Amino acid sequence: MKNIKVIIFDAYGTLFDVNSAAEKCKNKIGAKWEVFANYWRTTQLEYTWLRSLMNRHKDFWQVTEDSLDKSMKVHAIDPSMKNELLNLYKKLSPFSEVRNVLRDLKKKKFKLAILSNGTPDLLKDLVKNNNFDDIFDDIFSIEQVGVYKPDSKVYDLPIKKYKINKKEVAFLSANTWDVSGGGNFGYNSIWVNRNNNIFDNLDFKPNKQIKDLNQLLEIFK
Ligand code: LAC
Repeated sequence: MKNIKVIIFDAYGTLFDVNSAAEKCKNKIGAKWEVFANYWRTTQLEYTWLRSLMNRHKDFWQVTEDSLDKSMKVHAIDPSMKNELLNLYKKLSPFSEVRNVLRDLKKKKFKLAILSNGTPDLLKDLVKNNNFDDIFDDIFSIEQVGVYKPDSKVYDLPIKKYKINKKEVAFLSANTWDVSGGGNFGYNSIWVNRNNNIFDNLDFKPNKQIKDLNQLLEIFK
């Protein structure tokens, strides 16, 4: 992958483990914690897509709460756990290799940015709580355009800001549909396939597929 100037990361699921909120409550939730976490995530994403299609935007924090309400009912989770789960969602853990890889890429002088559905405040707090403040040149939030990924207006945000060619961007996401969104837009899209999943049929195949971010240090030697 040549001539890359900017490396852009999706946040939720790619840098930060979205299941870590429910996992931290697994003693209280019991064995169903993972099924519940996956349902919450899927519902949250469906709400982003549906709201964009219906032209009824609500920010990601509200969508996260709305989807949690439904998921807790579906999986019969004790309603008193709602605030705990929401608070944990604000403090999601990064995947284990993220910190070192970001620091090494930064040393190589790449511009590094986040492009996410999250609100500016949520993303700022996640970055701050995990001591990533000095890593990212920019944190792009879909709130700047008021529509969710994979609308092309979202992927165009960094292009407008940096005035670069789409092919000078490497875009990383663990979400297959987001890899397709960025790829169909024109980015070099790299799929972070942490769990050995199957890719989508959405007119795009990833330029590269990696198991975790460590492999980026090989790609961008
Ligand atoms: C995000 C979601 C897609 O951070 O994970 O934008």
